Amino acid sequence: MRFYTGNKKTLMELAERVLKLKDEKNAVILAHNYQVPEIQDVADFVGDSLELARMAVGTDADLILFAGVDFMAETAKILNPEKRVVVPERDARCPMAEMLDLKTLLRAKREHPDARVVLYVNTMAEEKAEADAVCTSANADKIVNAMDSDKVIFGPDQNLAYYVKKRTSKEVILVPENGMCSVHHNMSLEELSKAKEQHPDAEVVVHPECIPEIQEAADRIASTSGMLRYCSESDSREFIIGTENGMLYRLKKELPEKSFYPLSKNAICENMKKNTLDKIFTALQREAPEIMLPEEVQGRALGGIERMMELSKRG
Ligand code: 13P
Ligand code: SF4
Repeated sequence: MRFYTGNKKTLMELAERVLKLKDEKNAVILAHNYQVPEIQDVADFVGDSLELARMAVGTDADLILFAGVDFMAETAKILNPEKRVVVPERDARCPMAEMLDLKTLLRAKREHPDARVVLYVNTMAEEKAEADAVCTSANADKIVNAMDSDKVIFGPDQNLAYYVKKRTSKEVILVPENGMCSVHHNMSLEELSKAKEQHPDAEVVVHPECIPEIQEAADRIASTSGMLRYCSESDSREFIIGTENGMLYRLKKELPEKSFYPLSKNAICENMKKNTLDKIFTALQREAPEIMLPEEVQGRALGGIERMMELSKRG
């Protein structure tokens, strides 16, 4: 597997310049587990959506450089309204987060006035502002179960909704009806069977954004950082990983004594890969592009994120 996405020597020189500039600016670099290796290597913290949101709270850095996709950087901004949050590439978007529009959400709220609204963190700030609580793949079932209503409007991922429905007695109303992440949704049972044939001793660990059939066939379903924790604690030495393939670098780096194989070699999030080390350097230098949100949206979206933080700490 080719880890680095360019000439290693050039990337190492660039990494040194990024680290120097980061110190000069008193910046912090937060990177998602799917980022390319050279970005993970310069980051102060690498994690899943929940961990990154937690890291964004109360940082004493003057500048947050967020290497992930749009909704993640927005979450960091909502949690730090007084801080500057910049991204390497403005066009690194999560297509699934854009599948839930405000009109659909407001219609569902009108149709089910007695329901609470729990939105996956993979949504945009405008929609988050309408949620009673936000959730991530690490806590979706817990947050839905904590709602004080038997009915919960949930979106936008149909596969995460399947995962939640299996773990709750609440009525789950999905908005929109067919939201999904194509990177995970397109992984097939055929690819899983092939990987199992090639690695018969490996445990299968998948993300809840995978289709129900793959969830059912897995040994473990977890968020990206949940995968790392599980693989570290498991006695197994080999794992087939059903998520975006950037995760394999993180797993191999943290657990070099174990072996990891992708469930599908096609599981690449093009948006996550739009960020490069070069763009990080330029973004730090220019302190742009900066995430800006309308104050009123920011304030209302904070409520749902804080509710998640509070509920996810319980138990
Ligand atoms: P995690 O929160 O599990 O890292 O997932 C984020 C994501 O975008 C999955 O595709
Ligand atoms: Fe969005 Fe899927 Fe990419 Fe995650 S992997 S950021 S859900 S498109």
